[in-house]
Amino acid sequence: MNVMSKSSDVMKGDWKVSMTPDDIYRHPMDIAWTFDYGLSGDRVEDLYRRAKQNQWDSDEYLPWDTPVDPSKPLINARSDVYHQMPFFKKLSKSQQETFTAHSTAQLLSQFLHGEQGALMTAACVTHSVPDATAKLYAATQTMDEARHVEVYARYCDKIAMVYPMSPWLKALIDATLKSDRYEKVMIGMNMIVEGLALGAFNNMYRTTQCELLKKLTFNVMRDESRHVSFGHVYLGPVIAKLPEAEREDLADFAFQAISILMNAGTSGTIANRVDPGFMEVLANSGIDADDFFAGLKQAEEAGITQELPPGQIHSVHDLMMPALARVGLFTPTVRKKYEAGIPIFDDVQVLEAMEGGHPIAA
Ligand SMILES: [Fe+2]
Ligand SMILES: [Fe+2]
Repeated sequence: MNVMSKSSDVMKGDWKVSMTPDDIYRHPMDIAWTFDYGLSGDRVEDLYRRAKQNQWDSDEYLPWDTPVDPSKPLINARSDVYHQMPFFKKLSKSQQETFTAHSTAQLLSQFLHGEQGALMTAACVTHSVPDATAKLYAATQTMDEARHVEVYARYCDKIAMVYPMSPWLKALIDATLKSDRYEKVMIGMNMIVEGLALGAFNNMYRTTQCELLKKLTFNVMRDESRHVSFGHVYLGPVIAKLPEAEREDLADFAFQAISILMNAGTSGTIANRVDPGFMEVLANSGIDADDFFAGLKQAEEAGITQELPPGQIHSVHDLMMPALARVGLFTPTVRKKYEAGIPIFDDVQVLEAMEGGHPIAA
């Protein structure tokens, strides 16, 4: 089986995913100097120390010589929501395997592109946050994200498949990068995108059968749990001290960002129909798109694909929404907007377990 997709028949260093004029934009951002170099002595400083101690070099840590067969699924197929669809069960074994291999590659490609976005937002926080300890911490996050880009790029090279960035993820990160204050950059990245990523990494860690990908994911996840913590321990007190109008502005930004995500849908929903990368996955697997989405609709209406497999967590319910709730971003005013169709979740149990040095959900 040839698993080289149309959009990925590329060799190392020659990614086929092409840039558009929208990928370069000019944006004035406040840049903050500080001359108070004393460290804060609080949980932000603790995070900075943890970040320094937990730096790792993928050349040393990861078994890059592990053989990876890109024609075989990298994850346990039973953990994939699509495998629960009656339509999917009727496909041939070869088609199922090809689909699983390509849809996993498409997901890994989102990890790669998302990490580039995280690299840029972390650098942005480094120069725009006014607090010295937060600047040092954000610099460690910038290095973490550079490492994450490196490891996912190397892994995608190994499987020789890279899919384009999903439009909703690009829109979410662009809205974050184009925002007018560092607090919004941190809400968009450290709470929303990284909440999404931490859940996705947890699920990948639990389901992958590839030893290299498992170890890679574990190490990335440990870094990400610090990044999500930073959104809480630094930004929480900042938001609490803001005048009400500014807090409302941030709460509204969070709502707009969440709306991009919820309107577009995430992997596993029928909204993938508008994702060109996912359509390419179907084409590369020889699956008719109309038949696939009709099968998915039937499965969703029957409630078959609604439940996550055991051990997996839901990024929006368990991580992202609770992170926003914890720092007071569901104000009474903005709650009215959510009531129009986006449910709010505020149970922080899973979130706090994953931040507390236990990156894997219990
Ligand atoms: Fe990252
Ligand atoms: Fe991160």
